[in-house]
Amino acid sequence: MKSSCGTRFTFLALYLFALQCVYAGSFHKDVNIHWGNGRGKIHDNEGKLLSLSLDKSSGSGFQSNQEFLYGKAEVQMKLVPGNSAGTVTTFYLKSHGATWDEVDFEFLGNISGHPYTLHTNVYTKGLGDKEQQFHLWFDPTAGFHTYCITWNPQRIIFTVDDIPIREFKNSESIGIHFPKSQPMRVYASLWEAEHWATRGGLEKTDWSKAPFTAYYRNYNVEGCVWANGKSSCPKKSHWFTKKLGKGGMNKVKWAQRKYMVYNYCTDKKRFPQGVPAVCT
Ligand SMILES: *[C@@H]1O[C@H](CO)[C@@H](O)[C@H](O)[C@H]1NC(C)=O
Repeated sequence: MKSSCGTRFTFLALYLFALQCVYAGSFHKDVNIHWGNGRGKIHDNEGKLLSLSLDKSSGSGFQSNQEFLYGKAEVQMKLVPGNSAGTVTTFYLKSHGATWDEVDFEFLGNISGHPYTLHTNVYTKGLGDKEQQFHLWFDPTAGFHTYCITWNPQRIIFTVDDIPIREFKNSESIGIHFPKSQPMRVYASLWEAEHWATRGGLEKTDWSKAPFTAYYRNYNVEGCVWANGKSSCPKKSHWFTKKLGKGGMNKVKWAQRKYMVYNYCTDKKRFPQGVPAVCT
């Protein structure tokens, strides 16, 4: 009796420990709600749940306290339900200055019953123009789903619920910039972009439904922390060498074949001289 109880206790302890490892972050200690004048809120003592809101006078947002040069940033999000046209909910990495680097997840709201668009982009030295957009295979307003950016020296991988949907490879060998020298912070925001996010203002934001609220849960960032002009990486980090094997590439293909709604690499109208070299 005694020993089986002990065993059970050990399993329980291990289980709790494992959960802790998976979601080690706390909004209280890891982020600063730097925008929105009270519109961003942390809901629990442990700092696991945060909400951002948007009304006619302002949106809101948070940023990580630390900067990273490579890392893995993960969060679960539940997006604005109902008529969310004109709202944009984001989770992204960004560095400072005029020639910044940036890696974006941006969720463009839609009128009720119509799908969100997940907009992804990569900026290198201040230049974006690498958009890929997707619809999702679930309703992102009905529950929490996990969105993750893995950024290592060889590649950037975007995943949704552990399914890779996009890979941006380091192609410096053919003269294409890759983010590798500017530390980035993690950001999230909820803002209004009626002109951009609704196919050129086709739909209007319905302010009678405001405030709009999006939820973030289980924030977890592991990375090479930047301090005093250099970064230090945690030992043996799986994400630092992560690549997509055949299985991973097949998932990217699946997501792109079934859910991609825009790809800069196939936009011949926009690039009449030929699509960017990074696409080929
Ligand atoms: C809204 O939904 C329509 C399809 O019903 C789609 O064509 C459009 O791209 C969506 N807009 C956004 C911003 O996702």
